[in-house]
Amino acid sequence: MQPTRRPRRLRTDGVRGLVSETALSPADLIAPIFVDATTDERVPIETMPGHERVPVEAAVDRVEEVLATGVEAVIVFGVPEAKDERGSRAWATDGVVQRAVRSITDETDAYVITDVCLCEYTSHGHCGIVEDGAADDPTLTVRNDPTLELLSKTAVSHARAGADMVAPSSMTDGMVGAIREALDDDGFSDVPIMSYAAKYESAFYGPFRDAADGAPAFGDRRHYQMDPANGREAMREVALDVEQGADVLMVKPALPYLDIVSAIRREYDHPVAAYNVSGEYAMLHAASEKGWLDLDAVARESLLSIKRAGADLILTYFAEDIAQRL
Ligand code: PBG
Repeated sequence: MQPTRRPRRLRTDGVRGLVSETALSPADLIAPIFVDATTDERVPIETMPGHERVPVEAAVDRVEEVLATGVEAVIVFGVPEAKDERGSRAWATDGVVQRAVRSITDETDAYVITDVCLCEYTSHGHCGIVEDGAADDPTLTVRNDPTLELLSKTAVSHARAGADMVAPSSMTDGMVGAIREALDDDGFSDVPIMSYAAKYESAFYGPFRDAADGAPAFGDRRHYQMDPANGREAMREVALDVEQGADVLMVKPALPYLDIVSAIRREYDHPVAAYNVSGEYAMLHAASEKGWLDLDAVARESLLSIKRAGADLILTYFAEDIAQRL
């Protein structure tokens, strides 16, 4: 037997680069950073090796470290000095993200994206205003419409601080339209919105919730984040965000949802982003600490697969490590 068709011919070292379909570039990566108003020291995040919560005063240094690796964009998360029912520190002019963004945009050339959500700022840890009695009745949950105004105020306060792009992540119905209108009314019609369009109610966010101190005090996020069982529903979510003016469409988490990334890629011309979340990062680290996986290899393979599925941009805690090696 002598096969005439031999795919192996294109796998030699000389030619594989020429026929490679996908490449990773530092320009595709967005590094998440955590700024913490409750500390004056840099605090390592135990569940996310290599990452830290940094005080506002160290935000510029943190971003300089990211830029030094070749990554040009960051997404900023904040841990506020105080929390309340409505999450009012989320839109405070002197809030943790607002202060950090002002200094980062004043002193660096980074492209600055902000996460727009209330869960790190509310005393109950939910992503919006909750119904009275919600703590005792898990069927009561975030009140959608009154939350829109708070998200809009938060997005505008980030833009005023200098954010280049805002990324609403609360899965509030109508959030993209409300934020678009608020930004436009405030003179920020040029600030794009990257919508967490298909954000699943995922157990892979665990390490992040430790990092950003944003776990719900009661109940879960099933009533507003998507059911992992649903793929077609993601297309409806995305259609709504497109209609409301989303500029970039994000899927989150990334690896368990590559079918969603690829379905969106096929149907829309918009840039597609995927969030390689904290749990995806933590599990590779944990396995490599045990000596079971080669961290650099699996991290690269993960990011490459996310791109191959159709993502243009990747938000990932591996951004700096991978960029440095490219
Ligand atoms: C909400 C938000 C979350 C993440 C990003 N934005 C947490 C959540 O929805 O519970 C998770 C990111 C990660 O796990 O890396 N503000």
